[in-house]
Amino acid sequence: MSKTSLRLGVNIDHVATVRNARGGAYPNPIRAAKLAEEAGADGITAHLREDRRHITDADIDGLMEALSVPLNFEMAATDEMQKIALRHKPHAVCIVPEKREERTTEGGLEVAREENRLAHFIAPLRDAGCRVSIFIAADRKQIEAAHRIGAEVIELHTGAYCDHHAEGNLAARDAELEALREMASFAHSLGLEVHAGHGLTYETVQPVAAFPEVMELNIGHFLIGEAIFRGLTPAVQEMRRLMDLAREGAAQ
Ligand code: PXP
Repeated sequence: MSKTSLRLGVNIDHVATVRNARGGAYPNPIRAAKLAEEAGADGITAHLREDRRHITDADIDGLMEALSVPLNFEMAATDEMQKIALRHKPHAVCIVPEKREERTTEGGLEVAREENRLAHFIAPLRDAGCRVSIFIAADRKQIEAAHRIGAEVIELHTGAYCDHHAEGNLAARDAELEALREMASFAHSLGLEVHAGHGLTYETVQPVAAFPEVMELNIGHFLIGEAIFRGLTPAVQEMRRLMDLAREGAAQ
């Protein structure tokens, strides 16, 4: 469990990526989710993509049955996914943009241009008791639109910040971090709960964890990669430790 109010959601998609490389049942993402839970994850995140390239429908069934912590179900805004979400009624539904050809979720959702459709899309999910989160870039226009359509949560896309860091492009990294900081504060002022995620690592997590408005970080690829070297439990525990340190430091 968290020492601070900042929650860690562990995304287990890439355990399924490794499993699917051989088409069998091993390694099992549900086993990984339970381990992550024991290691200090406050929630589990899984993205059921249209092409089922990693997580499958059966994985979602299994997670709903096995988890003691909340499931954050990531999905595109399609009728098929809405039906699946309404059948399971997970704790949270995170709406993400999805393109078949992309390797990962490349940008935030375009909410402003699709406001009407998205407002209608999320209404039944909210009525079913799911907390609806919208994955967006640090962009005021998108945050205002997410607020108007009735989302309770936004998740800020940290991918650009992490990419700039990895490429050693420090000025661009710091500018992106500043935009994330300002938009976390702006979203919070509108009454939105603020989450963040994508591409976070031990090197990049702390500045984001220190934003007082951020309530949850969702982290996957790096943790599953790190699990190869040190095991999933220590990998999650170390992330938890760094997040708590950053948060405690920022509070002082
Ligand atoms: N948050 C959202 C909305 C995502 O789509 C993803 C990737 O599936 C993540 C967080 C986790 O990103 P990463 O696997 O790069 O840590």
